[in-house]
Amino acid sequence: MSESDPRATVRLGYDRAAAAYLADRTLTSPDVLALDHLLRRLSPGALVLDAGCGAGVPIAATLAATHRVVGVDFSTAQLALARARVPAALVCQDLTRLGFAPDVFDAVVSYYAIIHIPRLFHTGLLAALYRLLKPGGYAFLCLGAVDLDDDFDDNYFGVRMYWSHFDAPTNLGLLRATGFEVVWHDFITDSLGDSPPGAGHLFVLARKPATIQTP
Ligand SMILES: C[S@@+](CC[C@H](N)C(=O)[O-])C[C@H]1O[C@@H](n2cnc3c(N)ncnc32)[C@H](O)[C@@H]1O
Repeated sequence: MSESDPRATVRLGYDRAAAAYLADRTLTSPDVLALDHLLRRLSPGALVLDAGCGAGVPIAATLAATHRVVGVDFSTAQLALARARVPAALVCQDLTRLGFAPDVFDAVVSYYAIIHIPRLFHTGLLAALYRLLKPGGYAFLCLGAVDLDDDFDDNYFGVRMYWSHFDAPTNLGLLRATGFEVVWHDFITDSLGDSPPGAGHLFVLARKPATIQTP
């Protein structure tokens, strides 16, 4: 990954800001409570991938209370925090180059990570997440709610950071085009300390059909 690649900005940014982000991460905000849409559909011991797990608190930790969790992140500082906090298998990997076998996970969760990936990768990433789910498996994803091509901020928790995403109708269309059934979706207002008023994200529960129709 070259230094001009925005993914390098994101990885370096979270390596430097991991502790500050964790200190500000909300534990019982509406985004966290929304995870229940997934939790109530999973059997105990389900195998769940947390894509962009960060420090693992509160999402991977909540999942790990009743399920088997694999957390993936490309920030070594985030993974070090997660290792000390969450009983999960933790893997250092770029989400745009996921290396898991197909049809293995009962669910995949991703909070506030896909929005940091250049959106030209989003179609391929959704297809990769779809592939690694078992038929009937669920994806619970935080995606963009508004159209944002390339956005840099030089002072996000004191570091340079990058975001890129599509708007909500485009994201729902991409999920359906990938093959997902959209089960539930909502706009959830951001809860981090310095979020602009009214800012928020699209949260989606989507399902890989139990029976895949082949043409
Ligand atoms: C805003 S933090 C969210 C962490 C956690 N999911 C949470 O809800 O608190 C975003 C995380 O996504 C990770 N991330 C962003 N882009 C990634 C990529 N291309 N591959 C792997 N991890 C990525 C970052 O390193 C960071 O830990």
